[in-house]
Amino acid sequence: MLAPPTAGVMGLLDFLCWRAATLLLLFPNGQECLSVHISNEEPLYIIPGSTLVLRAHIESGSPEEVSAVTWAREPESGAPDGRAALAACPGESPRLLVQCAAARANVRASVELQASVLHVSEYAKADAGVYAVTVTGKAGQSSTARCIVRNYEAVHHVSVSINVSHSSLVCGEAWGTEPQFSWLHERDAVTGSVGRVSTDGATLVVTKVPICGHFTCVVSNKLGYSSATYTAAPCETDSISGSTVAIVCLVVLQILGGGLAFLLWRRYRKRNRGDRLREHMDDNI
Ligand SMILES: *[C@@H]1O[C@H](CO)[C@@H](O)[C@H](O)[C@H]1NC(C)=O
Repeated sequence: MLAPPTAGVMGLLDFLCWRAATLLLLFPNGQECLSVHISNEEPLYIIPGSTLVLRAHIESGSPEEVSAVTWAREPESGAPDGRAALAACPGESPRLLVQCAAARANVRASVELQASVLHVSEYAKADAGVYAVTVTGKAGQSSTARCIVRNYEAVHHVSVSINVSHSSLVCGEAWGTEPQFSWLHERDAVTGSVGRVSTDGATLVVTKVPICGHFTCVVSNKLGYSSATYTAAPCETDSISGSTVAIVCLVVLQILGGGLAFLLWRRYRKRNRGDRLREHMDDNI
């Protein structure tokens, strides 16, 4: 068969186009197949202040078949009154890039052969929503493609909690787009001797027994980072090194004290001997 069942939606579209083409062959005055899709991955996360660029790919039997391309934004909630027209373009142009009529100052759109591009510069938080591009054919048929656009959020409110039964620490962040997790133990990157980080990075399975010291989870993305620390009991090695320092100090003090005592004793003995010598000489005179 022409349409393998595993090819998904595009396969189905191809199949429908093929069916439509067959019908066209059977009924030459029928409608041509017209379809549009947005090539950006969705949802798309945009940093406020940057430029949003959406590309649509148009499939039509011939460029003359397309009479109009329009861009609009709808609220993601689906509220019916929130639809805003963004740009209206004439049909596909076989050779030239044609600019469209934009409904807003920060919107620019163009259409060319088999493609239309929308630019929204100085993207603001209120520009989030579902972007829709509609291609209308001369015969009145139309096709619409949509892409969800959301605001790229900074990382906020990171927290670390302990799962005692599984000896693991869980790093949670209340919001933040594309979070990247990293773990520190006493300000050093976590190594195999301390624990194992899960594939998504949010969980640290602690292998160090007993769990001690400071564990910090750092969550970062394109806009910065935020971190939180879980503090367990101080590590044994720390208190050992602390007492070692105390013992070394005591020994040094004792050596210094002993040395001082020895010096004083020697001086005392020398003076004594001198005195005795002088007495002895006095007696002889
Ligand atoms: C601890 O972790 C396990 C495994 O991930 C999970 O099933 C369990 O619900 C967690 N317990 C708590 C108290 O969060």
